Amino acid sequence: MEDKKRIFSGVQPSGHLTIGNYLGAIKNWVELQDDYDSFYCIVDLHALTVRQDPKELRRRSLSVFALYLACGLDADKNTIFVQSHVSAHAELAWILNCYTYMGELSRMTQFKEKARRHKDNINAGLFTYPVLMAADILLYQAHLVPVGADQKQHLEITRDIAQRFNSIYGDVFVIPEAYIPKVAARIMNLQEPTKKMSKSDENENAFISMLDTSDVIMRKFRRAVTDSEAQVRYDEENKPGISNLMNIYAAVTGKSYEEIEQEFDGKGYGDFKKAVGEAVVETLNPIQERYNDLMKNKDYLQEMMNKGAERAARIANRTLGKVYRKVGLVSPVRG
Ligand code: TRP
Repeated sequence: MEDKKRIFSGVQPSGHLTIGNYLGAIKNWVELQDDYDSFYCIVDLHALTVRQDPKELRRRSLSVFALYLACGLDADKNTIFVQSHVSAHAELAWILNCYTYMGELSRMTQFKEKARRHKDNINAGLFTYPVLMAADILLYQAHLVPVGADQKQHLEITRDIAQRFNSIYGDVFVIPEAYIPKVAARIMNLQEPTKKMSKSDENENAFISMLDTSDVIMRKFRRAVTDSEAQVRYDEENKPGISNLMNIYAAVTGKSYEEIEQEFDGKGYGDFKKAVGEAVVETLNPIQERYNDLMKNKDYLQEMMNKGAERAARIANRTLGKVYRKVGLVSPVRG
């Protein structure tokens, strides 16, 4: 494990994961699990920055954990854990708060956008959200962080905070970089194919949840937005809907665009959508079966969660101890 590069990624337990999350990220992570020392964290503390139903939040954290395992992420090869199980996240976040400026936090696009959407609850946690995210990453001395475009700014501020801290105290933190996978499917919204598919979209028809039933999946693909040309041809600019369906089909079948164009030459969009739907159902079925088995076995899930948290805490506490010493906190006498 020691000489492998370390990856850290966080996911909010809000809404169901979509095939966009799977084809664009999780599927690649499974392929990387022998080459990197990866940490996958379910960031339940971040989720508290907007109001949550306690029961729902608890259920969704467990559900994301089970889904990661069901997708084939091996809990021995990766460290999969829940953020609130490792207290060092909240502790380092406090310290880093004291090294982060109001000015830089007020420039964060996501804060401005969320403050606009949740006018009645612009809380301090929403404001310092990126500092907790910096703590997540820096605790593990992660080299690489897979992030979408919407999180680039948060990774930038993480680097700024880490560099600021290092320039005062010496090399405490590894400066993380964005990880951009060589081949990643970018799956778009089925109703507005120029927008990224999102698990929190209001329109249910816009995304395929990893846990949608076969009927729902087939129906959503039937309703997917296309164009009036009636030809299956890859052209992102003029045919974003069809190109997105081709990307999905390519990702689940391994076929190239040319092969897909040939397969559906002279056929209508109805046939094509049906084939995409069936291929997605076939991919998700075994994952859903494993997921349902795991969710029935809460003791096993709990045991795997504890194991992940223990391994994460060992590394996180080492970094936190170093930070505490550097900034001048008195060590407690342990006995
Ligand atoms: N802010 C990220 C998001 O909303 C989630 C996240 C929290 C994260 N901590 C992280 C992502 C650390 C990468 C690394 O998508």
